[in-house]
Order: sequence, then C-alpha cells, then structure tokens
Amino acid sequence: MPAQLLDGVALSKKIRTEITARAAIVTAKGRRPGLAVIVVGDNPASAVYVRNKVKACEEVGFHSVLERYEAEMNEEALLARIATLNADPAIHGILVQLPLPAHIASERVLEAIAPQKDVDGFHVANAGALMVGAPEFKPCTPYGCMKLLESIEYPLRGARAVIVGASNIVGKPMAMLLLQAGATVTICNSKTRDLAHHTKDADVLVVATGKPKMITGDMVKSGSVVIDVGINRLPDGKLCGDVDFDTAKYIASWITPVPGGVGPMTITMLLMNTLEAAEKKIKY
Ligand code: GUN
Repeated sequence: MPAQLLDGVALSKKIRTEITARAAIVTAKGRRPGLAVIVVGDNPASAVYVRNKVKACEEVGFHSVLERYEAEMNEEALLARIATLNADPAIHGILVQLPLPAHIASERVLEAIAPQKDVDGFHVANAGALMVGAPEFKPCTPYGCMKLLESIEYPLRGARAVIVGASNIVGKPMAMLLLQAGATVTICNSKTRDLAHHTKDADVLVVATGKPKMITGDMVKSGSVVIDVGINRLPDGKLCGDVDFDTAKYIASWITPVPGGVGPMTITMLLMNTLEAAEKKIKY
C-alpha cells in the first residue's frame, strides 16, 4: 500500500484559520501584524517565493510590504533600509530573501535585523537560542516540518532521525528541533560516505539538498516518515522534490508531496512567527 500523504496544504489551512483569528484580536488592539519582505536581484525562484509570502499575509489580514531592489544595490544601502524597518512600529517581522547577490555579505545583513523582528530565525542570537532550547523564533521550514510530524502524532522520543543537508536554513535547525523532541539525530552532508546506509536507518528522514529526486525508494526504510524539503523545477516545467516520490511512496508509511507538502508549511510558520512578534507587545 502506498504511503499516506503528509498534506501541507490541509494543515496550513487549519493553522492559517487560527492565525487569522489571532491577527484580528491584535489588530483590534492597534497592533496589526506587519511583515516586510526584501528581495535583492532577480532570482526567479525568489520572486515566486516572496510573492507567495506577501499574498499569504494579505489572506490572514496582516500588513505587508514587499521591497524589491536591483542586483547592484550596495550592502550599505540594504543595511540602512533594515535599520529603518527595525525602528518602524508597523513592522513586526523583517525577512530578507536568500540568496543575496554575491557582493553582499549575507551574514552582515542577517545580523542587522533586530532579533525581535527576525521571523526567519536566522540571526545568530536566535540560532544560539534555538541551540540551547529557548528559541524566540524557529526557522520556518524546520518549524513547518515539526508541525507536520506533530499532526500525525509521530512519537519522536527515541526515534532515529536522519537529515540529508546541513544548511543553516534547514538542516542544522531541523537537527536541533528533532534533538529537543528526543530523537537520535544524524546530519548527513555532501561528503557523507555511503549515504544510503544512513538514510535506510531513518525512522524519520528529512531531505533538503536541492538535488532533484536524489533519494530513491531503495534508500528509504520501510514504514518510515519521509519529509521532502526540496522544490526543484524540471526541464518540462514540473516541480519535483529531492526525494523520488514515485519509488519512495511504496516504501515509506508517510511522505510529503512536492508541491503541497513542506512549501506551504514554510509560509504558514512565517505567518505564525510574525503574528507572535506582534503579540509580544514589544515597544519600539
Ligand atoms: N531562501 C530559501 N528559503 C528561505 C527562507 O526560508 N527564508 C529566506 N529569507 N530566504 C530563503
């Protein structure tokens, strides 16, 4: 029997209904949640992601601002813009879409965002807080993956979790969240020897490599939960994940589809972080 789908669209809908209701409450108190999204350059994938983020804000009643800048924008100008948004009382969350053009130092930009407005959870202060188990904001994609696991009441305590991909955005924070939930966590990277040896041992397998269909069914443990973070566009225009869905679905017991799995959850948890930033009543 093929795996059951971990449906990120349905779960997002449920969580966004709650977000809409809570947003109406803070809005009535004069603190309508506000998100600023900055994109620099013309990366086509980024353009789609930021449009979806802003559209989602509108749907739940948030204030949102989308700022697009030319690829040539200099770092100082971007830092100055962030400083202004840090001081803007109508903005509770600031998101700078990655990747940034090569001439801009991403770390400097991410560190310039006020940690209380860092709804991506990428500032070192938030990354450190996550590491010691007291995160202000959890990075949206790993947070969304945890919500998917929670939705099926997956017993993470003592489970073997394997993450393929060790990025600051997904792999590393995902490891922290799974570890805190009591899983035994392995993080694989592009140099890992005998990757299949690790993935076949995973009760929960999270894949975030950006390599289309690299995890095939024969690399998956029977009865496991497979969470595919990848969103890749194939030459025929179709989207696919980092997992070969058509073979893995016969081995796993639960699997996320692409599209419609992790993608919508990332945006939903961005909305949740922005809502919570507004609810915290921080005065600027
Ligand atoms: N680029 C790819 N994923 C993300 C994300 O979650 N946040 C930001 N800011 N940029 C990204």
